[in-house]
Amino acid sequence: MNPATPPIVVEIEKLWSVFRSAGQVSVIHKNLDLRIEAGELLSIVGGSGSGKTVLLRQILGLETPARGKVTVLGQPASQMGAEGASSRVGMLFQHGALFSAFTVLENIAFPLRELRTLPRSLVRDVAMVKLQMVGLDPAQAHKMPADLSGGMVKRVALARALVMDPPLLLLDEPTAGLDPDSADAFCSLLQSLHRELGLTVVMVTHDLDTLFELSTSIAVVAERHIIVSGTPAHVMACKHPFVREFFLGERGQRAASLLHKPRPAV
Ligand SMILES: Nc1ncnc2c1ncn2[C@@H]1O[C@H](COP(=O)(O)OP(=O)(O)OP(=O)(O)O)[C@@H](O)[C@H]1O
Ligand SMILES: [Mg+2]
Repeated sequence: MNPATPPIVVEIEKLWSVFRSAGQVSVIHKNLDLRIEAGELLSIVGGSGSGKTVLLRQILGLETPARGKVTVLGQPASQMGAEGASSRVGMLFQHGALFSAFTVLENIAFPLRELRTLPRSLVRDVAMVKLQMVGLDPAQAHKMPADLSGGMVKRVALARALVMDPPLLLLDEPTAGLDPDSADAFCSLLQSLHRELGLTVVMVTHDLDTLFELSTSIAVVAERHIIVSGTPAHVMACKHPFVREFFLGERGQRAASLLHKPRPAV
């Protein structure tokens, strides 16, 4: 390997994802290939039901490949186990709610508590650090999820995903349901965490503003595989009808104009 090439964090080779229920077989991915290098902020786009969430679940080891391989940090994803997974991969789920009966701090601390190896005071301190890392005031620590705004819920969920310092962060539609200002603030936060923590980030998004402002690379899922991946400029040049419709419609043109205007550091 060329010493200048960043290591591969995720390598997906000829992946088949298949569901069987009530005698029906659904093939969601067929021969899907994807390589994600350390330090990338990769956005995954594709139509609704194209298999984006299932792809993240494969990387997290929550689904088993029917065929092919998913390797995460040099190990088969399916062998990570729940504890291994949260120290290697942080996940912000698409419809992931916080535990409504737990406070903000208890929610963030949850993956560490599950380990049962650290003293309570240390768990609390680590959770407090993560709370502040996602831009929340320590005064929020004892609030209940029902008392938080949508943007704050996302930040708490992000702090929980990062509590074990995983090198890889997966985000499924992180700005969906947020108002434009909260979505913008969440993007700034993601961008600074990506830079400062040296994280590799894989994000599913429909939000073109988020996509163009944050992504170092883009992968497009259609027809059960990745039809194109690479730099935003490379993907935009793809002639596939889905890509043309997705990026070159009116909304896409507007968002693409942001391509060369990176957001100022926060
Ligand atoms: N556990 C499961 N059993 C059977 N089918 C499933 C299962 N999980 C997902 N699917 C199917 O796989 C397909 C892809 O689902 P997925 O949730 O990955 O889509 P998506 O691209 O994330 O869509 P969206 O943009 O709406 O979130 C869908 O048809 C879904 O019904
Ligand atoms: Mg989804």
